[in-house]
Amino acid sequence: MYTLGINAAFHNPAACLVWNGQVIAAAEEERFSKIKHGKRPIPFSAYELPFNAIDYCLREAEITISDLHHVAYSFDPSILLPDNSGSNVVTLPLEPSANPVDPHWDSLWDPLFVSFIVNAPRQLVGAVPHHLGKRLEAPDTRYQWHFVEHHLAHAASAFIPSPFDEAAVLTIDGRGERATTTYNFATRRGKGRVDITRLGQVEMPHSLGLLFEAVTGYLGFLHYCDEYKVMALASFGKPRYMEDFDQIIKLEGSGSYRIENGNLEERFGPARKPGADFEQRHYDVASSLEIALEKSLLEITYWLQEETGSKNLCMAGGMALNCVLNSQVRDDGPFDEIWIQPAAGDEGTALGAALWIDGAERNFGFFPGWKMDHAFLGPGFSDREIEDFLIWSQLPYHRLNDIPTETAHLLAQGKLVGWFQGRMEFGPGALGARSILASPLQASMQQRLNGLKDREDFRPVAPVVLEEHAGNWFACSAPSPFMLFVHDVLPEKAKMIPAVKHIDGSARIQTINPEQNRRYYDVVLEFGRLTGVPILLNTPFNTRGRPIVCNPRDAVESFCTTPLDALVIGSFLLSKSGNSQRLGRR
Ligand SMILES: [Fe+2]
Repeated sequence: MYTLGINAAFHNPAACLVWNGQVIAAAEEERFSKIKHGKRPIPFSAYELPFNAIDYCLREAEITISDLHHVAYSFDPSILLPDNSGSNVVTLPLEPSANPVDPHWDSLWDPLFVSFIVNAPRQLVGAVPHHLGKRLEAPDTRYQWHFVEHHLAHAASAFIPSPFDEAAVLTIDGRGERATTTYNFATRRGKGRVDITRLGQVEMPHSLGLLFEAVTGYLGFLHYCDEYKVMALASFGKPRYMEDFDQIIKLEGSGSYRIENGNLEERFGPARKPGADFEQRHYDVASSLEIALEKSLLEITYWLQEETGSKNLCMAGGMALNCVLNSQVRDDGPFDEIWIQPAAGDEGTALGAALWIDGAERNFGFFPGWKMDHAFLGPGFSDREIEDFLIWSQLPYHRLNDIPTETAHLLAQGKLVGWFQGRMEFGPGALGARSILASPLQASMQQRLNGLKDREDFRPVAPVVLEEHAGNWFACSAPSPFMLFVHDVLPEKAKMIPAVKHIDGSARIQTINPEQNRRYYDVVLEFGRLTGVPILLNTPFNTRGRPIVCNPRDAVESFCTTPLDALVIGSFLLSKSGNSQRLGRR
């Protein structure tokens, strides 16, 4: 039984294909459309479906839309429709902003937003781009359409792929239909049956996620997009605005809270203009926000642990991408084990909705559950496909005999290497399939990488370390394969890896083992043999404002237009130092 998951309501549109409990493919639309985050999260764009990502998922399984049994869309518009109206009509003035908002709606534009989503099934049939007709246009579809509540989709994405048989599940994002934070208890029983019970929720307009977005905008970054920059900025500040944030975030016990935003400029002074210099108060606002959120999240998680009695926590929702917050919950919270969905943003709801509907429609029967040990769920390209492209493009390249060893030698020489291998990652992290790799041994490497990517200087670069060696270099006692936690660099090792450490002494590490990605593991292993340091710098293979590369053309274009020294793509090397031998010939 095939189930297609779709996320499209707000941002990070994505698709995921599940077959009898197993995830076959998952990808974000941005990787195909080249529009970062896919689209803007505004009512006017709510109709846009991730057609390219859907097409990819069907292609991976070698099926067409006719073969689908279910489509699961990760937003339920009925929750926003007027209660008990008995009508299938919503009224939308031609010029909503010139009319008073109907008291039922949160916003002037909600009727437009909801009507687009209600009509998503018709969009899927009637708006297929011409070039995707082969797989997406069919006269005889048989699938059943399901609208899945947004936070249920987040919760399913957090629990079903987790290693736990029971767990507390916390979802926090900007907003779903009305919920912004949810508390759940999930269990997996005999034959894999999953139950997710909602224990409580916080609703609009009270949202820790929206507060984070508001401060992101205040600090001159793009909200809905640059929240991770605020997280990095916080390390440079002092939390001298805690009293203000105590007034803004009102914790009310039992997981409930209120947000009294008010006017941030009245509290903290004029907002920073995008691109303007940072003042100390900007760092201090970021620091105060981060600590206020840590405090709030700890209180919430203690309550959730008592309420569920579980020692396991699963998390999803955009806030779960904040690795500093996650680490605080890990270090000072009440749970023994934490698993976070690596695609914790809205893209992951495509996966959660698909897994949930697939399981519910099968009554979770007779197929083994799917555990998410890695995130390599996107498009991959064979050596044949890659070489055909290189020949066509007439670029010089040569085939490597020993990919890990030869790549490790380049890295040990201080080269910046584009690394394009296997299936693309699902989610925002680059985990060794679409990465830029570099040596951690020189402090200047962080600046070189930030320069290459046209990123702000304050941004740290994350390391990848062999799983078995992680504890020798970082305060790390458990694998961390998805870069969702920070770990302190051991003081006695810090001088050996100066490019790794953030200003606060921490690093957002990725641990790697051979089962997750053999070739990537072997490069780090060989680099360790050459230098004595089994660690590399790993940053996403993209440049500022662009999504991570998806296909060989993207990788080669990025290689040719940045100061990358080399590109290792499949079994082939492209180099700017004249070492590549062949010119468009096999
Ligand atoms: Fe969400």
